[in-house]
Amino acid sequence: MSAKAEAYSSSANLGPGFDILSMAHNAFKDIVIARTIEEKGKIIIKSNNPKIPLDPEKNSAGLATKILLQEKGIDEGVEIEINKGIPFGLGLGSSGASSVAAIAAVNELFELKLTQEEMVKYSMFGEQASSGSPHPDNVAASVYGGIIAVTSVSPVKVEKIPVNLDFKILLISPQGEREGKTKKAREMLPSKIDLSLYVKNSRYLSSLILGFIKGDKELIKQGLNDEIVEVAREPLYPHYKKIKEIALKNGAIGSCVSGAGPTVLVLYDDNTNLDKIKVESLEVCKAFGLTCNFISAQI
Ligand code: HSE
Repeated sequence: MSAKAEAYSSSANLGPGFDILSMAHNAFKDIVIARTIEEKGKIIIKSNNPKIPLDPEKNSAGLATKILLQEKGIDEGVEIEINKGIPFGLGLGSSGASSVAAIAAVNELFELKLTQEEMVKYSMFGEQASSGSPHPDNVAASVYGGIIAVTSVSPVKVEKIPVNLDFKILLISPQGEREGKTKKAREMLPSKIDLSLYVKNSRYLSSLILGFIKGDKELIKQGLNDEIVEVAREPLYPHYKKIKEIALKNGAIGSCVSGAGPTVLVLYDDNTNLDKIKVESLEVCKAFGLTCNFISAQI
């Protein structure tokens, strides 16, 4: 018996929404095939990407599957074949998408009838394997699609944000997959912040969410800022500030770090000079010794 499922890439955080907001996009996708195998209780991982860990405990899809099977009392052996389309370590929700696709495939394989929130719950455990913390934002976007807000983690609750604006996405992504990046990025975060910063960031967050709901570009631009997490991780993406400046100068709706970076997300529309953003960003990437790819996508 086998079942196949896919899950799309995502950009988590969206500026002020650390571990809360995320946007799924059609830039890349992972496809997972789950098969029952004879050896009871065993999980085998296979992948087309030789760099991802094959130990189920260290693989996001493997760990998520293990926890799901345990909780559902299923002792069948399962092979998880991960066809990775999403490069990892670039802030594109790669590990999360693998877990989501694995959970969706296993859900179908054993006819578990999981709700979307349960799918987020189990997929989230997979993030523990790759980043040391079970953050829900990427997996929630890959499960629900569009732009989501995680409103509770225990129990998992997710809301889809109504988006009343047409925009496109440009991902500016340095080449080269980065192992263990999210774990390192999470270790860079402050354990305490000033109340004034908290208030400022909360204002950004409310502006951003209201901007999407109202279809108000100015509110989105105002809200797509973060003075806590993006700042703390700046050494991971020294090119970001300059690229954001270029994007805004050339009429982009807004720009932020995609997840934990180093990919930069730009939201744009017909009033944006995209060619100029690409030409100038390429120069910035070069100056920082990076070769950057441009990926156009939509939610
Ligand atoms: N919210 C997570 C983080 C996303 O920023 O660590 C990781 O892709």
